[in-house]
Amino acid sequence: LQSGLAQTPPLGWNSWNHFGCHINEDVIRETADALVSTGLSKLGYQYVNIDDCWAELNRDSNGRLVASASRFPSGIKALADYVHSKGLKLGIYSDAGYYTCQKQPGSLGHEQVDADTFAYWGVDYLKYDNCYNDGSKPENRYPKMRDALLSTRRPIFYSLCEWGLDVPATWARQIGSSWRTTDDIEDKWESMISRADQNNEFAQYAGPGGWNDPDMLEVGNGNMTPEEYGSHFSIWALMKAPLLIGCDVTSMDKKTYGILSNSEVIAVNQDPLGVQGKKVNKLGDLEVWAGPLSNNRVAVVLLNRSNSRTIITAKWEDIGLNPSAVVRVRNLWRHRELEANHQGSLTASVKPHGCKMYVLTSVSH
Ligand code: GLA
Repeated sequence: LQSGLAQTPPLGWNSWNHFGCHINEDVIRETADALVSTGLSKLGYQYVNIDDCWAELNRDSNGRLVASASRFPSGIKALADYVHSKGLKLGIYSDAGYYTCQKQPGSLGHEQVDADTFAYWGVDYLKYDNCYNDGSKPENRYPKMRDALLSTRRPIFYSLCEWGLDVPATWARQIGSSWRTTDDIEDKWESMISRADQNNEFAQYAGPGGWNDPDMLEVGNGNMTPEEYGSHFSIWALMKAPLLIGCDVTSMDKKTYGILSNSEVIAVNQDPLGVQGKKVNKLGDLEVWAGPLSNNRVAVVLLNRSNSRTIITAKWEDIGLNPSAVVRVRNLWRHRELEANHQGSLTASVKPHGCKMYVLTSVSH
């Protein structure tokens, strides 16, 4: 809820999807280095988020969380200093229960001491999970950490990781800066695309200050095709989802980098209007997704969920344009304007499991 922090969806990286529990301070440092050396940080990716498995199993004699001595021997404060020295921000992970999902200490009942510890270390982002809780409503547990974070006076992005079971979209805007709408994503087309569908149901709840979170990106983790990863990134951007890279950025291939570094797609995600794009039409496996952007522009994704190349048409009436509007069309993956202006509709041939993404600007009404 921290004002100012979530005017647009967060951009960054998180350790979980690629590294799971195999994390240590070198991984985090090298990731920060790579975000800078690849230029991704300049494109806006600023959060370097440590997920589960960073802590010792026991708190210290003052009841404080302690970083794993074997994996984070220099401690989190030193790591935060390092990440900050690169112009980036550090995120960490805890849980509104007795344990995290990997059975590390949770923050339930320790909210204030943990928030104080995170603030002291210089943490900028907290992902707060829901495992091993006491069975009470998340609406009652999550505000405790919000209040503890607020009382530290350090701006900390508060990411609720309640997996959508208790429909956080409907209550979390007063609590967090983002909230999950789905359970965990896997690096598979079906998993990815079903999360897009679930997240789409909650479009009305997103906006500057708080965002629906269909889980982190799998782009670059290897089990989807480049076409599928392009669709994943396009739809996440259009839905104003947090864009948290989930691959190993120290060894990205060219295609992965090409997807994650598309500044025009990132700009759709970061558009100041902050309206979540939606699925606006569907004919079997052929879908049109769209959403308004600032300056009366419209972002459109033509998504082909079928297994063969197919033609898809977006009609102005479906995407919120006046049927007589004449528009200039920019293809965001080709980085170029279409030669002809369009009126009434836009049609393109789309590869299987691929998409085309455009920004439309009216040249007349
Ligand atoms: C849950 C979350 C994941 C990840 C793991 C870590 O499953 O939804 O995103 O944080 O916990 O254990």
